[in-house]
Amino acid sequence: MDKKIPCLDLKGQHQQIKKEVFEAFEKVYDQTAFSGGPFVEAFEKSFAGFCGTNYAVGVNNGTTALHLAMLALGIGRGDEVIIPANTFIATAWGVSYTGAIPVFVDCDPLTWEIDASKIEAAITPKTKAVIGVHLYGQPFDIHAVKAICKKHNLYLIEDAAQAQGAAYHGVPVGGFSEMACFSFYPGKNLGACGEAGGITTNKETYSRHLQSLRNHGSVVRYYHDEIGYNMRMGGLEGASLSVKLKYLPNWNQKRKEIAGKYHAALKNPKIQMQLQPEGHDSVFHLFVITTEDREQLTRHLNDRNIFPGLHYPVPCHLQKAYAGLGYKKGDFPNSEYLADHCLSLPMYAELTNEEVDYVINTLNSY
Ligand SMILES: Cc1ncc(COP(=O)(O)O)c(C=O)c1O
Repeated sequence: MDKKIPCLDLKGQHQQIKKEVFEAFEKVYDQTAFSGGPFVEAFEKSFAGFCGTNYAVGVNNGTTALHLAMLALGIGRGDEVIIPANTFIATAWGVSYTGAIPVFVDCDPLTWEIDASKIEAAITPKTKAVIGVHLYGQPFDIHAVKAICKKHNLYLIEDAAQAQGAAYHGVPVGGFSEMACFSFYPGKNLGACGEAGGITTNKETYSRHLQSLRNHGSVVRYYHDEIGYNMRMGGLEGASLSVKLKYLPNWNQKRKEIAGKYHAALKNPKIQMQLQPEGHDSVFHLFVITTEDREQLTRHLNDRNIFPGLHYPVPCHLQKAYAGLGYKKGDFPNSEYLADHCLSLPMYAELTNEEVDYVINTLNSY
């Protein structure tokens, strides 16, 4: 194939909806509603509806969503929060920003999601919460993790940054925990034209607290009840998200169809795919495979104009930033295996049938 096929291409999506997004931008511009305001509120309302939650609070990115969720739970110095070792580092940043310590656990070797059976061994008297990550767009085993949280009186938080529209046994993610944290980074299934994030919750107290925390700790202007932050969502971002939310079910459906083809037609025994248990309805933010010799497969693909991604090459516990926590290679073998052998196949709604078939044939011929 002459055309290069990347892991993700945002251009097709943005060309399709350019006119509508620019019209929305014009409204924001004319109203000078650039920071928070009616366009963010409109998006919050529709996103809460989409997730089936009572509230959604828009912020400036997904990392902030995790940070503020921790603060809203009262987590801080001296506390520990359990998270999977194989996630994007921002899951851990949200914990570290508060002064609390992220405590890593391994993933399941087949689903690559947090291994619920490893959580209890990581609990100490300092543990306050568990953050489960709906990794690559696939819900983690929420019932199992929730049962452990209940038994030990821990808060559960969903990191749903990669999973807008995913469902667990028919129910959308975002309302299974105290708060669910979303990223609307441009490359996400629902991505803003800019940086953005959000938190969904069913509890009014959290919603109110998050609104205050993102706005300088203020409910009444110039009265500051606690130390707060400037972490509001921008109006242009909110307006672009409202436009895109209408298209999201269709885009997610397209991703599922592409994933269905990968699942059905990839027959190369040198390639393994993420196990998708019954009822874990993924939106395939990423389609990750593992293979023994990643470099060789990458060369095979690159030589044929296919450019896969890497999510993620270093697990959190082996990142330099966390060297002080004392983890070492060998602590979490499943996460380490994934980091060393993963490769993300092209996955976006605008991939043509021809391109998907070409990727499949190229992988099968390896
Ligand atoms: C699992 C996960 N958590 C958190 C984040 C952080 O989101 P953001 O990049 O919007 O800060 C991301 C996205 O980058 C993510 O993939």
